[in-house]
Amino acid sequence: MNIHELVKSRKVIVCAGSGGVGKTTTATAIALAAARSGRKVLALTVDPSKRLAQTLGVDRNLAEPIAIPAERREEAGIEEGMLEAWMLDPRVVADNFVNRFADTPEEAARLINNRLYRQISRMVAGMQEYMAMEALYTFLREERYDLVVLDTPPSRNALDFLYGPSRLSSFLDGRIFQLFLPEDTGRRSFIRRAAGRLVNRVNAAIFGAELYEELQEFMSSFSGIFRSMNKNAADGMVRLRDPATVAFLLVTSPATESLTDAFFFRRKTIELELPFRGFVLNRSQAAGDARVLPDGSLFGPKPSELQASALEKLLVLARIEQAAVERHQKLLDQLRRDAGSSATAVALPVISSGADEMRALVHLGDVLMES
Ligand SMILES: Nc1ncnc2c1ncn2[C@@H]1O[C@H](COP(=O)(O)OP(=O)(O)O)[C@@H](O)[C@H]1O
Ligand SMILES: [Mg+2]
Repeated sequence: MNIHELVKSRKVIVCAGSGGVGKTTTATAIALAAARSGRKVLALTVDPSKRLAQTLGVDRNLAEPIAIPAERREEAGIEEGMLEAWMLDPRVVADNFVNRFADTPEEAARLINNRLYRQISRMVAGMQEYMAMEALYTFLREERYDLVVLDTPPSRNALDFLYGPSRLSSFLDGRIFQLFLPEDTGRRSFIRRAAGRLVNRVNAAIFGAELYEELQEFMSSFSGIFRSMNKNAADGMVRLRDPATVAFLLVTSPATESLTDAFFFRRKTIELELPFRGFVLNRSQAAGDARVLPDGSLFGPKPSELQASALEKLLVLARIEQAAVERHQKLLDQLRRDAGSSATAVALPVISSGADEMRALVHLGDVLMES
């Protein structure tokens, strides 16, 4: 199945891969291509560059997705379709979440103003990943879009995205929370009583009485919310497994570490039963046209000495270039073999630094769709 078919038929396309390989770029190119083909699309990007936000004409950190402005639609060649973008600030999603799940508006406000809540995305590993997923499910439930293209959060490791939610669940499941809960007078085991006293003493000493109180307040208000999050994270994993609606693309560069990550990730998608549908070999020369090495005819039948020497130097450069093209083409073949019959492998070219970004993204989208 090629990317064109995925764009036509799927509700969610996830672009994953290790840091800096081009996930956000690929996700945006796919979203633009899908909107150009007439679909109602949301580009849900995490950690977009300022330049990319400017290219799409949307601000980062808005409370909800917005349509890209008319002149950008025109520039991108979007006619029938629709493109909304949400350049996600995980904290905004967290606030929405608290407002939705807190028992009362007062409780939501108290939590949001809690100093510890402000630190939460740093406190809890996997929170950012969780928030991206959470936003995704909300949009799917509401059926606001034909297709959501999700760019995964920045992380050193391609797998953090997948393990984020489950790591978060295990944190939430864990007894860690219990240890912070305020002492209650209900039935409690001896061990919990002892642990409670210990934690009280340690924490009051470490954090200071005032902060510790705030910590307890935070933990007790948040434990209920975390329980709902936990359930959502588990449901989310199930939804991401649906091969009829979801496609995972793994973005990689031709660099060895990035490829190693991609192959490892590929094996993980099998293990976790996620619908892997292709590799994107970004910044590659494999897509380059077949190169023709310069020969004597370049300077006519009788090249001067200077021309002959120039030709020799050109040949050296051309051969180096040719070797890179061949190496990248072999890589692409290897990725195709590894992808198997139900997935694809596509090469994206390097965009020159001075290029107009919208045109470059539209071009990358076309390359993906034509593959
Ligand atoms: N094919 C490409 N050609 C040139 N520059 C690229 C290409 N793909 C990505 N980049 C640039 O590389 C940087 C990292 O890309 P990005 O998409 O943000 O990666 P990620 O989301 O995986 O961290 C950005 O500055 C982006 O513009
Ligand atoms: Mg990114």
